[in-house]
Amino acid sequence: MLGDLDADSMVAVIGGGLMGRRIAGLVARAGVPVRLLDTDPQVLQAGLAEARQMAPGGVIEAAAGIEDAVSGADLVIEAVVESLPVKQELFAAMSRVNPVAILASNSSVIPISAIAEQAINPERCVGTHFWNPPDLIPIVEVVRGAATGDQVMDRTYGFMQRIGKLPVRVERDVPGFVGNRLQHALWREAIDLVATGVCDAATVDLVVRNTIGLRLGEMGPIENADYVGLDLTVAIHEQVLPSINADPYPSPYLRELIAAGHLGAKSGRGFLDWPPGSRQAAGDRLAAHVREQLDRPESSGSASR
Ligand SMILES: NC(=O)c1ccc[n+]([C@@H]2O[C@H](COP(=O)([O-])OP(=O)(O)OC[C@H]3O[C@@H](n4cnc5c(N)ncnc54)[C@H](O)[C@@H]3O)[C@@H](O)[C@H]2O)c1
Repeated sequence: MLGDLDADSMVAVIGGGLMGRRIAGLVARAGVPVRLLDTDPQVLQAGLAEARQMAPGGVIEAAAGIEDAVSGADLVIEAVVESLPVKQELFAAMSRVNPVAILASNSSVIPISAIAEQAINPERCVGTHFWNPPDLIPIVEVVRGAATGDQVMDRTYGFMQRIGKLPVRVERDVPGFVGNRLQHALWREAIDLVATGVCDAATVDLVVRNTIGLRLGEMGPIENADYVGLDLTVAIHEQVLPSINADPYPSPYLRELIAAGHLGAKSGRGFLDWPPGSRQAAGDRLAAHVREQLDRPESSGSASR
C-alpha cells in the first residue's frame, strides 16, 4: 500500500508530456515502478526515453491504455492537458477501473473537487501540484478537495517525501492553490503597470529582479511582514491597496497583444522582443539559476528562525 511505499508498489502516470514524463522519471528514480500512458504514441515514446534517462535502473513501462495503466496501481498521477472536461472524464474512467487507488491530479489551477466530480470515489482524489521542472523545483502542493479523505492526504504527503519532494498541505482547493495565486497576483499588477503607462515592460522586470526578487528566495511575504512590523504593513496597505489592480479578468492589454500576434517568446515578440535562440537561452539561464539557488549549502527549503 502507498503508506508504506516500497518496490512492490506501483504508480501510473497519465500524460507523458512536459510534466508527466519527468514526474515518471522522478518516481522511478526513487525505486518505485511506473507505468506511463499518453494517447499520442510519439509523445509516449519520447516521454519514456526521457523518463528512463532520468532513472537508470528504474522500471518504467509503457501502458497500452487506461485499464492497463491504472489496474493494480497504488497511486495514479494525472498530467494530461489542462482541460476540466478531459480530466473529469479521465477521473470517472480511472475510478471505475481501480476504485482503491489514490487518484492525483497535477492540474495547475483547477480545483480537485471539480475534477473528481464524476469519479465514483471522490474521497480518494487529491491534487499533487508539481512545479516545472518537477525534478528540480522542490515543492509539491498536496491539495485537499471537498471530499478528500484524511488518510489520502497523509499517504500522498508521505509519498511525496519518499520521492524526495518538499510537500505542503493545501487544505482547501481554491483555484491556483497557493503558489499560482501568489504568482498571478504579481503578474496581474506587473501587466497593469505596463498597460497604464507607469513604466515600460523591461523596467518592471528590472525592478522585481533587483528588489523583491533578491529577497524572496530567503524570506517569504509572511515572515517579511512580521519582520518589518504588522503596523507598518497596515499603513502601507492603506495607501497602496486601493490603487492596485483587482480586475477579476485578464488584462485587455494582454488580449490586444495576443490579437496582434504577439504571443511572447514563441512568436518572436510579446512584451519584449525574442530573437531566434533567445527562448532556449532564457530557459537555460533560468534552470542554471534555480540549480545554483538549490545548491547553496544554507538552502533548507524551510523557515529557519
Ligand atoms: N507546463 C507546466 O509548466 C506545468 C506546471 C505545473 C503543472 N502543469 C499541469 O500539468 C498538466 C500537464 O501539463 P504539460 O505541460 O505536461 O502538458 P503537455 O501538453 O506537455 O502534456 C499533456 C499530454 O497529455 C496527453 N493526453 C491528453 N489527453 C490524454 C488522455 N486522456 N490520456 C492520456 N494522455 C492524454 C497529450 O497527448 C499530451 O502529451 C496540466 O494539467 C498542466 O496544467 C503544467
